[in-house]
Amino acid sequence: MALRVAIVGPGRVGRAFGRRLARQRATLLGFVGRQQASAAAAVAGCGAGRALSLADLAAAHCVVFAVGDGELRDCVAAAAAATAAAGRPGLWLHTSGRFGLEVFAGLARPGLRFGALHPVAPFPDEGTGERAMAGAPAVLLGGPDGLPLLRRLARLLGLVPIAAGPGDRLLYHAACALAANGLTALRALVDELLAAAGGLAPADAANVAAALLQGALRGSAELGPAAALSGPVRRGDAGTVAAHLGALAAAAPHAVPAYRALMRAALDLAVGRGLGAAAAAAVARALEATPDGARGADCG
Ligand SMILES: NC(=O)c1ccc[n+]([C@@H]2O[C@H](COP(=O)([O-])OP(=O)(O)OC[C@H]3O[C@@H](n4cnc5c(N)ncnc54)[C@H](OP(=O)(O)O)[C@@H]3O)[C@@H](O)[C@H]2O)c1
Repeated sequence: MALRVAIVGPGRVGRAFGRRLARQRATLLGFVGRQQASAAAAVAGCGAGRALSLADLAAAHCVVFAVGDGELRDCVAAAAAATAAAGRPGLWLHTSGRFGLEVFAGLARPGLRFGALHPVAPFPDEGTGERAMAGAPAVLLGGPDGLPLLRRLARLLGLVPIAAGPGDRLLYHAACALAANGLTALRALVDELLAAAGGLAPADAANVAAALLQGALRGSAELGPAAALSGPVRRGDAGTVAAHLGALAAAAPHAVPAYRALMRAALDLAVGRGLGAAAAAAVARALEATPDGARGADCG
């Protein structure tokens, strides 16, 4: 039987899910939106389903809550109140990386199961998100009664299901944010510094940034981050680190805290890989010192 899916939250994730499900062997019932207009726009974008009321959720096998983290609990409570009389079994799940199953606490109802399906992909817009889902992991939380349906839904979305235990969800989410958003912010900073350095055509600068970031990711995946580390910190070259800080303080002082924080973390890796105590101490001193280019200026 085709899975009947309803989506609460016609935003980036909700629309990407809807677009994907509309092309699969699933029946997209439609969207519940905060405003009728955004649900209608999501329906039009998917070419399937209709704008739903909360009471309509009772007809779904799967209800996907893809609302913002700040709205999730209230939204689940409103849906529970609107469907209380229906008592139909099904699976309610949310897409948040931040929360676990606690958002469904107190909603026990015969036959109703609860879960989380965190799509481990960036959704800057629904089209990019839909493409990014292909082959990306879906981290699932659920009991034995909910996991089979969560796995089925993940596969329909083109995701590769991974079952997880509860763990520290907030720490998990912080790690995800650092990996996705932190890397994006780092790329922007690298682009800015290469542009300020001059000497490279923009397309060549973009190639340099991409090659280094991709090479670092590939090396970390193949060897582990510590073994993949290269560069002045790994070599214990305190003079070059101090010179970098001086150049940054002069040309892009806002980049100094990021350089310091990341190179301190790199130093920990280098020490773990056998960098000698004297060289490590010299690099640590260079990282703490006021950079030459910043004398008299506050560069954090
Ligand atoms: N973006 C990502 O990269 C990403 C990746 C993985 C997981 N997630 C998770 O997925 C969830 C959704 O994220 P998103 O990026 O799709 O957020 P989003 O683009 O801000 O979309 C949230 C949607 O929920 C709607 N909404 C809010 N309150 C509602 C309510 N009471 N009833 C019905 N709809 C309501 C909003 O309506 P309005 O349009 O009226 O504001 C909006 O359409 C979050 O938990 C997020 O952590 C996001």
